[in-house]
Amino acid sequence: MSTIPDFDVTLNERAVPAAERERIMADPGWGRYFTDHMVTIQYSAERGWHDARLQPYGPIALDPASQVLHYAQELFEGLKAYRQPDGSIVTFRPYMNAARMNRSAKRMAMPEIPEELFVAALELLVRTDRDWVPTEEGASLYLRPFMFATTRALGVNNPAQDYTFAVIASPSGLYYKGGVKPVSVWLSQDYTRAAPGGTGEAKFGGNYAASFAGQAQAVANGCDQVVWLDAVERRWVEEVGSMNLMFVYGEGANARLLTPALTGTLLPGITRDSMLKLAPDLGIPAEEGKISIEEWQAGCESGEITEVFGCGTAAIISPVGTVKAADREWSIGTGETGPVSSRLREELIGIQYGTRPDPYGWVHKIA
Ligand SMILES: Cc1ncc(COP(=O)(O)O)c(C=O)c1O
Repeated sequence: MSTIPDFDVTLNERAVPAAERERIMADPGWGRYFTDHMVTIQYSAERGWHDARLQPYGPIALDPASQVLHYAQELFEGLKAYRQPDGSIVTFRPYMNAARMNRSAKRMAMPEIPEELFVAALELLVRTDRDWVPTEEGASLYLRPFMFATTRALGVNNPAQDYTFAVIASPSGLYYKGGVKPVSVWLSQDYTRAAPGGTGEAKFGGNYAASFAGQAQAVANGCDQVVWLDAVERRWVEEVGSMNLMFVYGEGANARLLTPALTGTLLPGITRDSMLKLAPDLGIPAEEGKISIEEWQAGCESGEITEVFGCGTAAIISPVGTVKAADREWSIGTGETGPVSSRLREELIGIQYGTRPDPYGWVHKIA
């Protein structure tokens, strides 16, 4: 049984000077700059979680035989810290990220981390680096918890016995500068992301390494993102890039939402889960189901499908304007951001940034 260790704190004596930090935060982009500190916590089979530290952000030394470098035992999470109108800071449903990390850990034969320790690590890092949390609505501090195998052994028969859990943080600017714009997507028919019984529902680094070739193909075909189809029949729509997909049928009072069901090959997104709860409360029924590429195309051509969007922590909602594959191409609705996408986006962002009430208890105050 792991107990929750106390954190040993070493502040960064060479923290980024305030003027430089302000300059970075004026245009941080995404995932390019990191705050002054990081958290690391060690795990060993004998001691459980121990040696929890908050320390200056910097390189981590690894033995060249560390299992992560050879067999990729690594997983991660992603969530954001949001500045509220009163200056306080919250995160969004962090216990869901902790629970998802633990489900990923189970799949990758890695140790689970107590949810309270996961959240305590986020809180300590955000409190320490609170000046890095942007004040502009739409901007945030992206938090990246991750875990990797450090056991020095090349044997492939056993999972590692030793792991490091860490959290780093990166200021992120507005995902859509100058307004939300629909993206174009490429249907990947050469590559798949995840197979039944595989690792698709785990937030495992290897899933992302395996997706780069498909994403590169999307870009080579003039598209922004890649759409993943199921690995067996290659016709059921699963995800787009690193987002879950939502299909809007009908319009106005008749609009309803459909999202691919969690079959084990999709990542169970926290934004997806939030949409499934939020939409019905706004009068938009939402269900999980199945949709093929033929149904997607026919639905757009008949006008039955009015909007399609990807959803995830980074973009919240990313409308899809056009779909392209080797043998077909079609557009969705007007090709502009639709009213259902805009409404859901505004509601969720309002809850995250504290400008709308949070009847669900989703925001978690940190600082
Ligand atoms: C493959 C994949 N699907 C979906 C999502 C969306 O998940 P969330 O809403 O928890 O960010 C992500 C991002 O984490 C992802 O990597």
